[in-house]
Amino acid sequence: MRIGICYNLKTDFDHVTASLPDDRFEELDDIGTVEDIERVLRAEGYETVRLGFGVPAVAKLQKEPVDLVFNISEGINGRAREAQMPAIFDMLGIPYVGSDSLTIALALDKAWTKKIVTQAGFATPAFYTVDNSIQLERMMENRELRYPLFVKLSCEGSSMSIDDRSKVRNAHELAQRVQYLMATYPGETVLVEEFMPGREFTVGIVGNREPEVVAVMEVVPSDKTKDMANFVYGLDEKRNCDVRIIYRLPADLDDSTDRAIRSLAVGVYKELRCRDMARVDIRLDENGVPHFIELNTLPGLNKRHSDLPILARLAGMSYETLITRVLGHALERIQQTPQGVAVITEDQQAAV
Ligand SMILES: Nc1ncnc2c1ncn2[C@@H]1O[C@H](COP(=O)(O)OP(=O)(O)OP(=O)(O)O)[C@@H](O)[C@H]1O
Ligand SMILES: [Mg+2]
Repeated sequence: MRIGICYNLKTDFDHVTASLPDDRFEELDDIGTVEDIERVLRAEGYETVRLGFGVPAVAKLQKEPVDLVFNISEGINGRAREAQMPAIFDMLGIPYVGSDSLTIALALDKAWTKKIVTQAGFATPAFYTVDNSIQLERMMENRELRYPLFVKLSCEGSSMSIDDRSKVRNAHELAQRVQYLMATYPGETVLVEEFMPGREFTVGIVGNREPEVVAVMEVVPSDKTKDMANFVYGLDEKRNCDVRIIYRLPADLDDSTDRAIRSLAVGVYKELRCRDMARVDIRLDENGVPHFIELNTLPGLNKRHSDLPILARLAGMSYETLITRVLGHALERIQQTPQGVAVITEDQQAAV
């Protein structure tokens, strides 16, 4: 079986980074992640093809058809970027690992995801979105959200833009932070939500019909003087996680909170029809009630620094086992569900 690997590398954007904020391409991968996934797939006996991304990837697919794609491509330009390659695979009738284009696009938009999650009856911090200064003025007049608030980009990941100043305590700080984000990341929707002062967890999930929790991992600052009410798992914390963060697993949880966290994470995974793998971020409110923060349908798979491989490792599951488990779930799902029509015909291949 031939498996194509689809990805976007940070280095592909070296030519434009000088004029942009230094975290603009934070979510993209390093070649090491591609090599690690490739190594696991080859060790399992699969032939692998590096497809990369975009038009060249499609051209390669036409020349060298694959049976399946292991997709970690984040895409470029706009809210639906993570769905770009999945949508092409859907069109071409090529099966791929991970959630489908609709789920993957939706989950990248934190505000839209929160609307569905709320509708389904799960707890998530109350929120507001801001696209322009008129909406900012309107929000400032609105007294429904309780301070402190948290300000972030609705459609970004890897803690892009997030640091201690993302938590705001009053109207002045709020206006300053929203204006800063609008100016620094033009065109992005800003999400303002109530700050959850309690403990933070991230939950790794794999599977389909009966999604399985790989583990619940607690994210704790290594600086003991920092209490959770002042802790943010921001950009610097993620870039320097080796020294700034303690990953606690098993998390020291009473049975009922542990159950509530797991059922929230699996409930959201099912509600959004995630496939094969995802990671759900959760924080507790001041009463210890778990709240949904966000869903990662393309969780980072860097062996050393990404939360899903870290939590798997701490739970006793090697990187190799994690990748093969995810692949196994994809293969099982593909066998069980009717496939689309493949549109790369032999004639088309001959024409390339
Ligand atoms: N409402 C909130 N209350 C408290 N802390 C929050 C809230 N929203 C976000 N945070 C903090 O900011 C961090 C990053 O936020 P979030 O997970 O939404 O961003 P992300 O960039 O999509 O993360 P990822 O790297 O997982 O993709 C969280 O892990 C948490 O520490
Ligand atoms: Mg997160």
